[in-house]
Amino acid sequence: MSDADSPTLPPVLEVHDLRVAYGQRTVVDGVGFQIRRGEIFGLLGPNGAGKTSTLSAIEGLVRPKSGRLLVNGVDVQQHPLEAKALLGVQLQSSSFQAELTIGQIARLYGGLYGVRLSRERIVASLRAIGLDEERGKRFSQLSGGQQQRLALYIATIHKPLLLLLDEPTAGLDPQSRRGLWYRIEQLRGEGRSILLTTHSMEEAQAVCDRVAIIDRGTLLTVGTPAGLIENHRNDPRVLAAAHGTVTLEDVFIGLTGSEIRD
Ligand SMILES: Nc1ncnc2c1ncn2[C@@H]1O[C@H](COP(=O)(O)OP(=O)(O)OP(=O)(O)O)[C@@H](O)[C@H]1O
Ligand SMILES: [Mg+2]
Repeated sequence: MSDADSPTLPPVLEVHDLRVAYGQRTVVDGVGFQIRRGEIFGLLGPNGAGKTSTLSAIEGLVRPKSGRLLVNGVDVQQHPLEAKALLGVQLQSSSFQAELTIGQIARLYGGLYGVRLSRERIVASLRAIGLDEERGKRFSQLSGGQQQRLALYIATIHKPLLLLLDEPTAGLDPQSRRGLWYRIEQLRGEGRSILLTTHSMEEAQAVCDRVAIIDRGTLLTVGTPAGLIENHRNDPRVLAAAHGTVTLEDVFIGLTGSEIRD
């Protein structure tokens, strides 16, 4: 039996009836889903659907209007420090202290997470992500792909159980994107779970064990990529979007509509 099926282990993440509002405006409206141990879970949705707001609530960056969030059974609102220690976070647009070199950034975050990192270990880690020669550069002097690799490394310094990655491959070339997929799969192989957002259906199909489609703050469907195609292939809205064989993108467009969002 795999860890994922173990009756004794709680889900790595439980989101129950989550509501997030900014002022009077509710942007996450009753979202619920669970992530199992060792699972890569994709949150898909048009611009403004509520993906980042959902992640922000799990990360403790915004206070939900209502709902319950459990990380490995730990209530995020009741025990925020305990829950946060289990999380690794890569925000939608990462930036780090402008005056520090990336070697210094790695040491700083190691310290913040309570992980002792020797100079040799930092050099080895930066070499593993192809950044050893950039060790003396500042974050702003890295290319977009290099910035993403560093941000993912920083998010995993403390070996978190659950990684929250907000559009980790946005703007990457195909080589860097593959590299990131490979790294994410490696992390799953270590027993970590990953919640990522993406606008790429190809990415969702390539790396996600399950995906949820969210729109206007509401979760529309959840399942494996193949399962979603199977379940929605005869929906007239999906058929209207399809050009031949129904794809995950046809399901996405069929369920969320084709008008451009904010
Ligand atoms: N701090 C904020 N204050 C007020 N409104 C916000 C704030 N953050 C997000 N919103 C609004 O909440 C809605 C959901 O935004 P959110 O960032 O969660 O969407 P998203 O699904 O991550 O979109 P994208 O794919 O463009 O990143 C949007 O209408 C956005 O304008
Ligand atoms: Mg977002």
